[in-house]
Amino acid sequence: MIQLRTIDDPSGRLTAIEGDAIPFPVRRVFYITDVPAGASRGGHAQRTMQEVIIAISGSFDVSTYDEHGPHRWQLNRPTVGLHVPANVWRSLSNFSSNSVALVLASTQYDEADYIRDFELFKAGLEVLEEPYFERRAKTHSLEELQGVR
Ligand code: TYD
Repeated sequence: MIQLRTIDDPSGRLTAIEGDAIPFPVRRVFYITDVPAGASRGGHAQRTMQEVIIAISGSFDVSTYDEHGPHRWQLNRPTVGLHVPANVWRSLSNFSSNSVALVLASTQYDEADYIRDFELFKAGLEVLEEPYFERRAKTHSLEELQGVR
């Protein structure tokens, strides 16, 4: 999680992203809006692309899966970004109405960079800490992590 720089005054809050606030040069920005209730996004990993995800408005959850197993992150503040490095499976769900997910990405869009098959992704994952991985895996269902598109 990255705490972004905010400037508060009586007329509102300004959040600035510049310099090395993001741990990679930003090559692309996109945002996700109008997500229907109950829908999920993501359900893939990227071979090289890194991204920072920000709940600019509203809230949603990001479920990740990497060599340390699954984790669920709740994003509900426009002042915090979640850094998702390369080779991390991610799924976005539980969107509140009118929520907006802003994504800062390290590369331009390239479908060849995607891994959309969870079993394929998992097969290529180097499990660093097997006991930890096993313990954590029990707390989340695979279906939940994969998301349904
Ligand atoms: P995808 O990355 O699968 O969306 P999400 O992870 O949010 O569920 O992309 C959905 C579609 O949009 C897919 O056809 C590719 C296209 N797309 C672009 O053309 N450019 C982009 O920058 C992104 C992120 C997606």
